[in-house]
Amino acid sequence: MTSLTKLIYLPWWWFKAAVLGKHSPLQSVIFISDRCNLSCKHCSVYNHTAPIDKTFDQIRSELEYCYSLGSRFVDFEGGEPFIWRDGDRTVNDLCRLARSMGFFSCTITTNAQQSFDGSVADSIWVSMDGVGEDHDSIRGKGAFGRLEKNIASCGCKALSVNMVVNSLNYRGVGRAIEYAAANPSIRSISLNFHTPFEGTEALELPRDKRHEVVDLILDYKKKGYPIMNSRSGLKKMRDNKFRQRCWMSNFIFADGTRSDTCIGQKAGVCSKCGFCMAGEQSAVMELKPDTILSGLKLRV
Ligand SMILES: C[S@@+](CC[C@H](N)C(=O)[O-])C[C@H]1O[C@@H](n2cnc3c(N)ncnc32)[C@H](O)[C@@H]1O
Repeated sequence: MTSLTKLIYLPWWWFKAAVLGKHSPLQSVIFISDRCNLSCKHCSVYNHTAPIDKTFDQIRSELEYCYSLGSRFVDFEGGEPFIWRDGDRTVNDLCRLARSMGFFSCTITTNAQQSFDGSVADSIWVSMDGVGEDHDSIRGKGAFGRLEKNIASCGCKALSVNMVVNSLNYRGVGRAIEYAAANPSIRSISLNFHTPFEGTEALELPRDKRHEVVDLILDYKKKGYPIMNSRSGLKKMRDNKFRQRCWMSNFIFADGTRSDTCIGQKAGVCSKCGFCMAGEQSAVMELKPDTILSGLKLRV
C-alpha cells in the first residue's frame, strides 16, 4: 500500500464520517490476551487466575472483521502482547498478517519487561508511568530498570512512551517529559490521565490537579519537547466537555466481545475519562490542523 493510497483513504474516510454521517472506525484495538507479567496498581485488564490467550485464527477473523468495518490502523493490546504465543507464532506474526490484509500500520503497547528486539511493529508504545521510583511504585520494583534496558537494546526507530498520570505520579510529569526528550531510544511521549474504573477510583487525579498538569504539558509543548498529544486535544481533556467521537475506534476484548466504543462508556466513566485519544479524535473531526498533523506523524 503506497503512502498516496493511505493519504487518499484518510480524507475519504473523514468526508464519509463528517459530511455523509457514516460513522466507521479508523482504528481498532484488539486485546490478544489478558495474560500479563505485571500487576499494575491502576490497571484492571490483567487476569492472573484464568488468563485468556486468543488463537492466531481467532485474531485473524477479528482483523478481517475490523478491516471490513473500514478500520485501517490496528493496536495490539493485552495483557502483555509480547508474551502472547500460539504455538511458534508471536505478535510479530500478527503484525505481518495485519499488513498483508491491508492495514496501514500496526502498533503494540508494551510494558517492556522482556526483550522485544526484532519487533516488526510499525510503532511501539512503551508504558512508562514516571521515572524510576514513580514508575516502580505503580508497576513494581525493578520495572523501570528492565524498561530502560529493553528500550535501549531494541533498536526500534518508532518507539514512544505513554504515561498515565494519576494521584501517585502526577508530580513527576515534568521529569518524565524531560527524561523522554533526553533518551535517544525514545521518539516522543504521550500523556493520558487515569480513568477510574471500578476498584481503581483512588488513583483518579482531582480536577484542579488535572488542570495544573494539562497546563504544565502545554508549557513543555510550547518549549518544543517531543509530546505527541496535540494542543487542541489536550485542551479538550482539561474538563472533558467536548463532543465525543469515540466511534473512531472499535475494541475487541480478550473474551472476544466486540464493541463499537470504549469500555469507559459501558462503565459510565466518560465524564472522568483520561484517555487523551478521546480529545484527539474529537479534534480530528473538527479538522484542527495541529491534531491532524500529530495524527499523521504518528500513523503515516
Ligand atoms: C492495559 S495496558 C496493556 C499493555 C501492556 N501490558 C502495558 O502495560 O503497556 C495498556 C495501557 O493501558 C493503560 N491503562 C491501564 N489502566 C488504565 C486506566 N485505568 N486509565 C488509563 N490508562 C490505563 C496502561 O498504563 C497502558 O499504557
